[in-house]
Amino acid sequence: MNIAILSNGNANYSTKRLVEEAKKHGHRVRVVKYKNCYLSLNEKHPDIFYKGEKLPKYDVIIPRIANYMTRYGSAIVRQFEMQGVWTVSSSIAITRARDKLRSQQILTKAGIDTPKTLVSRNTTDIDDLLEQIGLPVIIKLASSTHGNGVVLADTKKAARSALQAFYLYNEEGTNILLQEYVKESAGTDIRAFVVGSRVVASMKRQSLDDDFRSNLHKGGGGVSVKLTPEENRIAVKAAKAMGLHIAGVDLMRSNRGPLVLEVNASPGFGVEKITGRNVAEKIIDYVEHNATRRNAKDKVGA
Ligand SMILES: Nc1ncnc2c1ncn2[C@@H]1O[C@H](COP(=O)(O)OP(=O)(O)O)[C@@H](O)[C@H]1O
Ligand SMILES: [Mg+2]
Repeated sequence: MNIAILSNGNANYSTKRLVEEAKKHGHRVRVVKYKNCYLSLNEKHPDIFYKGEKLPKYDVIIPRIANYMTRYGSAIVRQFEMQGVWTVSSSIAITRARDKLRSQQILTKAGIDTPKTLVSRNTTDIDDLLEQIGLPVIIKLASSTHGNGVVLADTKKAARSALQAFYLYNEEGTNILLQEYVKESAGTDIRAFVVGSRVVASMKRQSLDDDFRSNLHKGGGGVSVKLTPEENRIAVKAAKAMGLHIAGVDLMRSNRGPLVLEVNASPGFGVEKITGRNVAEKIIDYVEHNATRRNAKDKVGA
């Protein structure tokens, strides 16, 4: 097969691993730096160019779009979709996954438990909101990544001033979520790496200090963990609801069962090092089994 990986480059561990496994399986694989691609919006020939070269028609693309490039990256993915190329993550699914509010709406509609969440644009509602959600409260930007837009407020005063600061400096108009603090899971969460309809690796992440955030980027560490059948089922269901064939589903173990925190469209492969599982190979296997069939079947949505 002729595979393109849309990525910022070969230096990225996940990209390197995908290239390695694709080659091992005898495929032609190319890393396309989507940032440097340009598009030709012609109805009959939705071409994609890279440094003056028109890219050929690939059998499948594996998008690894960085968070800060979501808009441009998903436009490039869409162009491949217009060519009828099968993508393991559709442009719509990527965009939805990057918005915590949109994601939560999709997950709750699918009957998946998530932490209780409220969204409002008015600080005047704060007393009402806090009454409903209780204290401490988590306040987060809908576009947060790596835990950088997530705050824990212990008191009403702290919550009000954090919210005011968020609203004031929120020039892009990102939505702000107030969320129930799942304290029984403080500082830990579970990453389930889903490929197709299976969890292929899972790890528990733990903050190494007293931070309530367990993001690896914030210095958290991870250990391999076995999921309960319910966690397994929910992780697969969440990926499916989001329309992602490859997903990193973050779960919290709460007193009322597993809650889905978020679903990542380009999950990192750090989980390979922690669990010893060959995630990249599972993805290539999945692509092999599905690309031809899907190429024939998939309709491209607008
Ligand atoms: N409602 C919550 N209750 C307890 N901890 C939370 C909650 N929401 C987030 N956290 C912690 O903060 C981390 C970052 O939050 P998350 O929503 O995943 O944002 P990001 O996308 O920036 O990583 C989570 O991995 C988790 O450890
Ligand atoms: Mg997260």
